Amino acid sequence: MDQAGQIREKIDLVSLISEYVPLKKAGSNFKTNCPFHEESTPSFVVSPERQIWHCFGCGKGGDCFSFLMEYENMEFPEALRSLAKKVGIVINESSFQKSAYSQKEKIYKLNSLASKFYNFLLTKHSAGKKALEYLIKERGLNLNLINTYSLGFSPSDNSLSKYLISKKGYKKEDLLEAGLSFIRDGNVWDFFRGRIMFPLSDHRGNIVGFSGRGLTDHDQPKYINTKETPVYHKGSLFFGLESAKEEIKKEGAIVVEGEFDALSAFKEGIKNVVAIKGTALTENQANLLARFTKKVILCLDQDLAGFEATKRSLSPLEKNGMTINVLTLKEKDPDEQLKKDPVVFKKALKEQIGVYEFLISKIISANNIKSAEGIKNVTEDLLPYFSQIQNEIVKEHYIKKLASDLDTSYSSLQKELDKIESSRKELSATTVQSPQINKKNRREILEQYFLALIIQSGEAPKIIDSKKTFFLSYNFDNPAYGKIFKNLESYLEKKKILKPSEFANFISKELLPAFDSCYLLPIPKFEEKENLAKELKKVEDELFIFSIKNQMEKIASKIKEEKDKKQAKSLQKQFSHLVSLLPKQ
Ligand code: GTP
Ligand code: MN
Repeated sequence: MDQAGQIREKIDLVSLISEYVPLKKAGSNFKTNCPFHEESTPSFVVSPERQIWHCFGCGKGGDCFSFLMEYENMEFPEALRSLAKKVGIVINESSFQKSAYSQKEKIYKLNSLASKFYNFLLTKHSAGKKALEYLIKERGLNLNLINTYSLGFSPSDNSLSKYLISKKGYKKEDLLEAGLSFIRDGNVWDFFRGRIMFPLSDHRGNIVGFSGRGLTDHDQPKYINTKETPVYHKGSLFFGLESAKEEIKKEGAIVVEGEFDALSAFKEGIKNVVAIKGTALTENQANLLARFTKKVILCLDQDLAGFEATKRSLSPLEKNGMTINVLTLKEKDPDEQLKKDPVVFKKALKEQIGVYEFLISKIISANNIKSAEGIKNVTEDLLPYFSQIQNEIVKEHYIKKLASDLDTSYSSLQKELDKIESSRKELSATTVQSPQINKKNRREILEQYFLALIIQSGEAPKIIDSKKTFFLSYNFDNPAYGKIFKNLESYLEKKKILKPSEFANFISKELLPAFDSCYLLPIPKFEEKENLAKELKKVEDELFIFSIKNQMEKIASKIKEEKDKKQAKSLQKQFSHLVSLLPKQ
C-alpha cells in the first residue's frame, strides 16, 4: 500500500470532518449542511463504513484528502503531509521529491524564513534599534509580545533578498512569487524597506504575507501589505487569528481594526482579538471566523469611518448566522483606550450591547424624531439592516423596540420592511445562480435513485438478474450511471455478492463520485421485500417512458428531414410502434 493509502486507513473521516462541521447521525451514515455551498437542509453525507463523503447539493465528494483540499484550500502534497502528521506517519521524502512541494508550501517556507530574519533584526541587531525603541517606548509593547507575534524590522538595503538568494539558495523568481521582492532596473529589491513588520498567518499558522508600518506617522502610505500571491488574498485573513483562535472558540471574537489594537488587547490579557486591518469585515473573513465562533464583538474605530465599517460588516456576519455585539469607547480606538485606561476597556467589554440596539440609539440621536422627516430618515437608514437579520425572533424584537422608540406602530414598520425584502428578492432573482450547483434533470435523478436502490439493497445480483430485459433495452441518459451499471454486471459475473468497497476499487477512478453518490443517496427503509420490488418497478416504468419518449423525439426529427418517401414511411412505422409501447392513460 502506498503512503496515502496507509494514512487513509488510519484517519477516521467522521472525526476529521467533525473538527470542521457538526455531523448528525442519519442511519448508518452522518449528515450535515454542506460547508461548500449555501444550503438550509443537509445534503452532505459521510459514510463511516467506506470513509467517503459526498454532497448531493453541489456534487462534491471524495476521501479525507479531498475534504482537506477543499476545506483548507490545500493542494494534495499539503493535505498528505498534514494528515500524515495527524496519524504519526513519517512521509518518505525521497519517494516524495522536493519538487513535489507545492508552490504554496514553498511560499510559506520563504515567508517563514523572512519573518525570522526580520524578527532577528528587530530584536537582536543594531539595524532594528530605532524600530525597537519606537515599539517599546512609544507603542508600549514589550519583548515578550514582540516575539509572540514575531514582529520584525525590514531594513532599507535589500538585505532580505540578498540573504535568501546567497545564504539560502533561493532563486529570485521564488522571491518575486512570494511578493518579498521586486525587480527594478534589472536589480532585485526588497518589497518592504524600513518598516515594522507584522507577519500575517492563516489560521493554520502558515505565514501568507506581511504588513509593514512605516516608522513614523508621516510615512506614506502608513501601512503596506503583500501584493496578491498564490497564498495571500486581500481581505481573507485576520491579523492575530492563529494565536486567538482557541480563546475565540470559548469567548467569541473581538474584532478590531488595526494591528496595534490587537496587540494592546493581548497585552492586557484579552486574547480573543483579531484585526481586520482597516476597512470593513469582508465575506471571506466572516466565513473564516464562523468556523470558530458564532459570536462577534465589533470594536472598530470610534469615528465616522469606524461606524460605517461597522454597518458594512453586518451583512457578511448575518449570512453566517452570527450574534453581533458592539463595544463603545471614549478614546479613538481600542489601542488608545487600552493604553490610557485598560479598566475602561474591560468595563466596556462587560457592557457590550447588541449591534442593532446600538444602531437604533445612534441613528435616532442623529435625527429629530419629533418630525415626520426625521422618522422617515431613521427608518430608511435602519430598516435595510433589520431586513438582513437571520433570526426572525431577534428581528421582531428590534422592530418592536424601534416602533416604541419612534412612537409608531409595529405594522407600519413591518410594511416598510416587506417592501425592502421584496425588492431585494427581485434583485436576487435576476442574478444568476452560482454555477457550482449542478441541477440534475428528473431522468438523471431517477437513474441515480434506481442504482441506489439496487446497490443499497444487499440483493444487487438478484435484482439485476430479474431486470435483464429492461436493462437490455435501456440507455442511460447519464453516461456515468450507464458505465456503473455495465461495471456492476461484469463485476457480478465473477462475484456472487456486491461488496461496495471492493467494487469501488474495481471501477475506474472517474466513476467513483457517481458510484459514491449512489452508495450514499438516502433511500427509504423497506421493511418488506415486496415494497422494495414495488418501488423498483415504479422507477423502472418511469425510466422506460423517458427512454421511449427520447427515441420518439429522435425519430420525429429524422422524419422531418427525410426526403425519401419509403424511408419516411418506415420511420413512421417505428414511431407508431414506440407509441404503442407507452402505457395507455
Ligand atoms: P497606528 O498608528 O499604526 O495604530 O494606526 P492607526 O491607529 O492610526 O490606524 P488607522 O486607524 O489609520 O488604521 C487601522 C488599520 O488600518 C491599521 O492598523 C492598518 O492595518 C490599516 N491601515 C492604516 N493605514 C493604512 C494604509 O495606508 N494602507 C493600508 N493598506 N492599510 C492601512
Ligand atoms: Mn490605531
